[in-house]
Amino acid sequence: MNNKNKQILLAKRPSGTPSKDTFQFVTTEIKQPEKGEVLIRTLYVSVDPYMRGRMIDAPSYVAPFQLNEVIEGGAIGEVIESQSDHFAEGDIIIGGFGWQTYYTAKEKEIRKLDKDIAPISTHLGILGMTGLTAYFGLLEIGKPKQGETVVISGAAGAVGSVVGQIARIKGARVVGIAGSDEKLQYLKEELQFDKAINYKTTPNLKDDLANACPNGVDVYFDNVGGEISDAVHVLLNKFARIPVCGAISGYNLEAEDVGPRVQTTLIKKSALMQGFTVGDFANQFPSGTAELAKWLNEGKLKYQETIKEGFETIPDAFLDLFKGNNIGKLLVKVADISN
Ligand SMILES: NC(=O)c1ccc[n+]([C@@H]2O[C@H](COP(=O)([O-])OP(=O)(O)OC[C@H]3O[C@@H](n4cnc5c(N)ncnc54)[C@H](OP(=O)(O)O)[C@@H]3O)[C@@H](O)[C@H]2O)c1
Repeated sequence: MNNKNKQILLAKRPSGTPSKDTFQFVTTEIKQPEKGEVLIRTLYVSVDPYMRGRMIDAPSYVAPFQLNEVIEGGAIGEVIESQSDHFAEGDIIIGGFGWQTYYTAKEKEIRKLDKDIAPISTHLGILGMTGLTAYFGLLEIGKPKQGETVVISGAAGAVGSVVGQIARIKGARVVGIAGSDEKLQYLKEELQFDKAINYKTTPNLKDDLANACPNGVDVYFDNVGGEISDAVHVLLNKFARIPVCGAISGYNLEAEDVGPRVQTTLIKKSALMQGFTVGDFANQFPSGTAELAKWLNEGKLKYQETIKEGFETIPDAFLDLFKGNNIGKLLVKVADISN
């Protein structure tokens, strides 16, 4: 084959919001597969907020990206050449090979996808990492009960939009917080959230939340942290649960974000606040994916994706996460399936 591999490398570690010069495009040779390997052509690439954390050189639950190395992350591809007994040409696979147009994978690095359950892109979203984050964070930590009030920040994003729908399946009353009127309309009209609040335009978030939650807050699924979470915490009910999923409001801050201390509230309300990563539930992924797929097929779960087109758009798509330019899962489509 005459094609070359296009890759996006981490060129420098960002301080504050990443910019285009955080990344470098390079072109390299494609490595031909050896015994036990397959050559993959990338179809979809995932951009995710947690990648911001991997751009700095600090210990975390996942290793930092290395300078001048390809940005790793969830991706879906098609096997175009196989030297493996387990994968055939035309198989659609998922792996962590990230921001590059081709990848030569060892068998253990990739997993074959079922093309027939739902469009393949959903395996990076509602049936993939973000859907599972919503599912386990809400059900294992939030534990919503019939008639309780569940508040979700980052509500129109990949994780938040699924959390709200699962909470409704469990009979809860659902209030979403998001950053545009288009998102509010989507939450209320498409996803049947009971209330939605635009945190960017409200004159008083605390008042709006109090009006939207007349019976207080039993579960707060936190995707954003910061001042939005401070406003929700004052409404917590006795024995409230707070799955702390993300804190995107702080990911690009250069100084530490200090707000009201939450300990006294937690004590007074006998509330549980628990951080988690989706990997904590890895041994339950098959059952979680099966239930998400069942709800999807029954029409109980809906999803929207924001799909950018073209390999060159990946850095901009990543930066869009911090501007709120997505409804549902943000993905980049790099190529069409061959047949
Ligand atoms: N714990 C885990 O295992 C795990 C797994 C996946 C994701 N997460 C976390 O969950 C959160 C959501 O991830 P996602 O993949 O579903 O992303 P997403 O919600 O689809 O996209 C990010 C959204 O965050 C909002 N946002 C950006 N900057 C903000 C700010 N300063 N204040 C408030 N909101 C802001 C934007 O929506 P608005 O228009 O509403 O501002 C944006 O659309 C992130 O914090 C992520 O790190 C955690």
